[in-house]
Amino acid sequence: MTSSPAVIDHPLLQHKISLLRDKETPSVIFRLLVREIAQLMLFEATRDLELTARDIETPLTKMTAPVLATPGPVLVSIMRAGNVMLDAALEIIPTAGVCHIGIYRDHDTLEAGEYYFNGPPDIAERALLLVDPMLATANSSIAAITQLKARGVTNMSLICILAAPEGLAALSAAHPDVPVFVGAVDTHLNEKGYIVPGLGDAGDRSYAT
Ligand code: PRP
Ligand code: URA
Repeated sequence: MTSSPAVIDHPLLQHKISLLRDKETPSVIFRLLVREIAQLMLFEATRDLELTARDIETPLTKMTAPVLATPGPVLVSIMRAGNVMLDAALEIIPTAGVCHIGIYRDHDTLEAGEYYFNGPPDIAERALLLVDPMLATANSSIAAITQLKARGVTNMSLICILAAPEGLAALSAAHPDVPVFVGAVDTHLNEKGYIVPGLGDAGDRSYAT
């Protein structure tokens, strides 16, 4: 198995990603776009969510209707930029649990530093959807996935808005079993590890830091 990405190239998504890239887009609109993009991407990434049947009554008749099975998936935010996607995802997956993983990228070494983990106790038995807008070197995603596997998780997917080919290759080598959904694959990483053409620093642009 490989983790060659599923590129979600829907026109609505591509339009919103272009607005996100624009350096003139202010933080308030940037966050709004990240939320909308996350929800559009989830539409594709949650295609296999489990359903169960519930007996209900419409104004006209009784019926057995499909509803999301519980417990639902666990949404995992790779902080801090992942939090904007997480909040948007929670709105459309009401049965989801939440896990926060704090990881920062050292600006000099580009290594991932882990500072926080908080997830549900039954995380190993559930399907996970990891969200992070950016996959650059992939050091952050690889660290998050390694941490989750060490806790017994076997079923997870990663959703990123932008990815670099270098990061996708590294992720595929480290965790070939993890499916990846991306909105766009850019051309390369620059000498500072930024995605080009990219959108800049997703955390800074989300929170105006
Ligand atoms: C950004 C982004 C990813 C990471 C990607 O986070 O949200 O987590 O960089 O880079 P990588 O693939 O090379 O690891 P950052 O470390 O800047 O933290 P922040 O979200 O707190 O700004
Ligand atoms: N993290 C970001 O936020 N942007 C990049 O281009 C690379 C890593």
